[in-house]
Amino acid sequence: MKILLVGGGGREHALAWKMAGSTLCDRMWAAPGNPGIARHAECVDIPADDTDALVRFAGDNGVDLVVVGPEDPLAGGLSDAVRAAGILCFGPTARGARIEADKAYAKELMRGAAVPTAEARIFTELSAAKQYVLSRDHGVAVKAAGLAKGKGVFVCDEPYQAVRPLEQIMGERVFGEAGRTVLVEERLTGPEATVLALCDGKNIYIAPPLQDHKPIGDGDTGANTGGMGAYSPVPMLDEAMLGRIEREILVPIVDAMRRDFGRYEGVLYAGLMLTPGGPKVIEFNCRFGDPECQPLMMRLDSDLVEAMVAVCEHKLGDIEMRWDPRPSVCVVMASGGYPGPYEKGLAITGLAEAEALDDVAVFQAGTADCDGTLVTAGGRVLGVTARGETIADAQCRAYEAVGHIHFEGAHWRTDIADRAIAAL
Ligand code: AMP
Ligand code: GLY
Repeated sequence: MKILLVGGGGREHALAWKMAGSTLCDRMWAAPGNPGIARHAECVDIPADDTDALVRFAGDNGVDLVVVGPEDPLAGGLSDAVRAAGILCFGPTARGARIEADKAYAKELMRGAAVPTAEARIFTELSAAKQYVLSRDHGVAVKAAGLAKGKGVFVCDEPYQAVRPLEQIMGERVFGEAGRTVLVEERLTGPEATVLALCDGKNIYIAPPLQDHKPIGDGDTGANTGGMGAYSPVPMLDEAMLGRIEREILVPIVDAMRRDFGRYEGVLYAGLMLTPGGPKVIEFNCRFGDPECQPLMMRLDSDLVEAMVAVCEHKLGDIEMRWDPRPSVCVVMASGGYPGPYEKGLAITGLAEAEALDDVAVFQAGTADCDGTLVTAGGRVLGVTARGETIADAQCRAYEAVGHIHFEGAHWRTDIADRAIAAL
């Protein structure tokens, strides 16, 4: 098969790394890709949001399967356009992507299907939203309804602290049109988990659960980021709980989408909080998580391309996926200043030494090639990922690999997977 992978971050590097090992993959391109992805695919200089150019490239080069990594192109209709051209596409249509791109829609869908989630009110008027939060007695979470690169959520211990975020989102429009509608949710408590399910519109297949680490600082302190590290499996989430998540959350939401618009095909990402009252949905995403995809791919033993094709051909029930029982841990190395402003173009060294370690893969997220030197080019630069006999062993290997890598200002959390180790 000829495959076109769309995107250029750590998630896409992990996907390219895994797809390149498939017996079904004859040739692979990535648009735009990155220097890490370039080891497995031919990178083509087309931005991930240039739908017309991507569809043209796929048609001109006889591409059989397009795999879309990030949410923006999906929300913009890339999957619809690829399918209209008669090419298989892994990733939902624009209507399906609304589950992530429009949190007000997702909340209504959950309500209609009785999927457990935080109670929420939806507002389009700043004054009404402010009045509402000031009438609350407990903490709230304020969320821009549209896509805001994971930065549009503010969790407030005290209701009055929600006023400023509301003004920024709705008044100053710091996230642009994404802040036209806002959700004010009750604040939930409990450990978080990510559950990723492959969906072919009818069948769902649940992958091993993961846990992300969103805040920038150790002990979950500081600003939220796209994710500073992840691991799998999650000891706090046992088989019984996973069964509940399937019955109470995944099956009803996929059914609700089928009733609303038809088949949802691709990955459904459920961001969950394991509250004292049971698992509840914090958000749905229409794609693999990043960094979650990196430790997940490290544990996938069976053929990823076969699974993606089964999704596109509605034959998910016919295949079996196999996972390495060994846990994996991914530590994100970020640019100095991230998630705020940061410098780019700083030389990265020590990658070869890190990659020479057993059961270690370094996925590149924000990197560029500058006259043969690998340099930083984004906030999250590398996803240093390792497998081990135990979570503690995987964690130890990941941090050993991190210790070999240098770039000016590099920073990372030192407690990725500590919670899992403490829970065992
Ligand atoms: P999201 O982008 O929706 O995943 O939100 C980012 C982070 O904000 C989540 O990972 C949670 O830690 C937190 N969060 C979101 N919604 C709530 C809520 N209703 N209660 C408590 N924390 C929340
Ligand atoms: N790591 C969180 C996300 O991909 O949305």
